[in-house]
Amino acid sequence: MFENIKSADPDPILGLTEKFNLDQRLNKINLSVGVYQDSYGETPTFDVVRNAEKLLLNNASTKSYKPIIGDEEFGLLVKNLVLGKIITKQRGNTAKTIHTPGGTGALRVVMDYFSKFHKDSVFWISKPSWPNHKQITNASNLNFNEYSYFNFEENGLDFNNMLNDLSRIKRGDVVLLHGCCHNPTGVDLNQSQWETISDLLLDKKAIPLIDFAYQGFGDGINEDSEGLRKIVQKNQESIICSSFSKNFGLYSERVGALTVLCSENILLENVISQMKVCIRSNYSNPPSHGGDIVKLILSDSTMRKEWEKELNQIRNRMKNMRNDLVLKLQKFNSKKDFSFIKSQRGMFSMSGLNLEQVKELRENYAIYIVDSGRINIAGINSNNIDRLSESIVSVIS
Ligand SMILES: Cc1ncc(COP(=O)(O)O)c(C=O)c1O
Repeated sequence: MFENIKSADPDPILGLTEKFNLDQRLNKINLSVGVYQDSYGETPTFDVVRNAEKLLLNNASTKSYKPIIGDEEFGLLVKNLVLGKIITKQRGNTAKTIHTPGGTGALRVVMDYFSKFHKDSVFWISKPSWPNHKQITNASNLNFNEYSYFNFEENGLDFNNMLNDLSRIKRGDVVLLHGCCHNPTGVDLNQSQWETISDLLLDKKAIPLIDFAYQGFGDGINEDSEGLRKIVQKNQESIICSSFSKNFGLYSERVGALTVLCSENILLENVISQMKVCIRSNYSNPPSHGGDIVKLILSDSTMRKEWEKELNQIRNRMKNMRNDLVLKLQKFNSKKDFSFIKSQRGMFSMSGLNLEQVKELRENYAIYIVDSGRINIAGINSNNIDRLSESIVSVIS
């Protein structure tokens, strides 16, 4: 039976990392990966996470299962983190947060649920977007459409075309928005654009699905939630998928959350009960360790402050690297204006480099960037920024 199976295409980004690892050139630079790197090129565990782990290890007495939706306290703490105190209070028991294995797990639960109960809903995904959005939609046998998002010529948001495309959405369709730090472009909506989208979704009776994988990586924990908070204040039915891979550095622990908001508590409980059935037949219940770390840090005021401090340092480093890169490119007399990189947010930047330039950087300069021209800003550091900037200037000349 298995002799008929053809090998699947390798993941384009992970495939690049494999090539990078095999590259023997000593001055190689990897800007393709999707993880944060510090100024030494490491992806370190947060100090506060290590401290939380020590405490957990000393006090742990069981490895018994978590509830299907995780601990109630985890849910309450994360709901507050995502929605803020005011909206959490306003929405009362019409909003609930559950613990999932990463943001990917949260998205999959949502799509499995839609596949079972709202099969005709079309998922609208930004063009471009994180590739897994389409993959999860396909895996759940749902239909998707793309909406314009990024203007590749101008390296900025294509808001008019975005509105134009979204004018075609139907009642019950799902519009997938990135809460902040859009992956791969780094280009986010401003507050008035969030307001406009929020009105449009309300008018069309569509469901907002906010992928919130980078809370705290843009402008701050609360600042990064402002857009989605506008959405949920107007749209009674909304869904948010959070990831704690980046902002707690808990990548391999697989910790995330799913927040569901409905117009009434009874409706919310019905939806959650069906999601529980989806979870039970998928991964059964979430892994405990990462969730316990997040719960402990968010519930302890000292640890929470330490976490916020570490997160601020990460955010500031990425902002500094953006500014430094633009300055260095100017210093090496770039004929192209790269100042748009400074206004992008988070870990990624659509650099404006075309496929030919990306390939030349890889082959002749050992600089690894994904084919679309997306670069991981966190991969830049004081040891590689000069060579990177000089190489970029030479491939665009
Ligand atoms: C936009 C976006 N959404 C969701 C995720 C999922 O993250 P995880 O499943 O590691 O929590 C990522 C991770 O790279 C992402 O970039």
